[in-house]
Amino acid sequence: MTTPSLDRALVLDAVRVTEAAAIASWKMVGRGDEKAADQAAVDAMRNALNELNIDGEIVIGEGERDEAPMLYIGEKVGKGGPAIDIALDPLEGTTLTAKAMANACAVMAWAPKGSLLNAPDTYMDKIACGPGLPAGVIDLDKSPAENVQSIAKAKGVDAADITVCVLDRPRHAEIIASIRSVGARVYLITDGDVAGVINTADPETGVDLYIGSGGAPEGVLACAALKCVGGQFQGRLVFRNNDERARAARWGITELDKKYTLDEIVRADAIFAATGVTNGALLDGVVYKDGHVHTHTLVMNSSTRTVRDVRMKRKI
Ligand code: FBP
Repeated sequence: MTTPSLDRALVLDAVRVTEAAAIASWKMVGRGDEKAADQAAVDAMRNALNELNIDGEIVIGEGERDEAPMLYIGEKVGKGGPAIDIALDPLEGTTLTAKAMANACAVMAWAPKGSLLNAPDTYMDKIACGPGLPAGVIDLDKSPAENVQSIAKAKGVDAADITVCVLDRPRHAEIIASIRSVGARVYLITDGDVAGVINTADPETGVDLYIGSGGAPEGVLACAALKCVGGQFQGRLVFRNNDERARAARWGITELDKKYTLDEIVRADAIFAATGVTNGALLDGVVYKDGHVHTHTLVMNSSTRTVRDVRMKRKI
């Protein structure tokens, strides 16, 4: 059976949506108000989506309907057209934005209807690496040290030459110790694990591996990006209480301890777009100069294996 893929003309539409969210949230950079920054991004992204000729349904969004009035899971967007599953994070890095720190971006992924995992808003244990490595080189059930050694062997280098990106959280102390026990480097990030995972696919960042727990919705977005460039990912949902287990059940997840692969999380070809809000390793942030707003977007289409670096300049 062939998997359906989205019309490639939708690539530019996706760019317009993340650009709109990034520009809106940029206005709130450094103002110390995470909620207002997120709200600005949500409003702009929702307006942009509703301008498009798509029949979109939010699969990964701002939360469940009772807690998120806009871009909630299940909300329909667009004026009608191809049926699309949408995963989005209008502002990935609300704290980064509020504090004017690096790496905040607006992120979205599209895939044909029914092909994205309905991940609940829980944590997910994640491991990821970039393209060109043998299948099975990473395994969530092995220790971080073993994964480092496996990646080093596959790349023909020493463990000391491997860099692992990890979210800087107390819960990751054991992971960090295990990585360092074999001499590898740890690249700590304060927030933003979608970009953290994507770093593994960009040789310029020097990151070989991503390990750690973060948001499950961000895991789906990161998988859509890796699907476009051929990396590997494994994720397992982490539940802290019965409420979170009930959320999973509501979205049809019955096997609670399943180890998901990338192709089980994103089950068809996808389009992924991210626009920088603040400067980061992958993206430049929004800039206003000479009466123009400038944005930088990375947009990828897994069906054509294209990666585009899009610069937009608009008079304001
Ligand atoms: P927000 O933009 O919602 O603040 O998320 C930022 C983020 O760092 C994600 O990239 C990551 O998946 C998650 O938070 C990690 O959660 P926590 O801060 O609870 O460790």
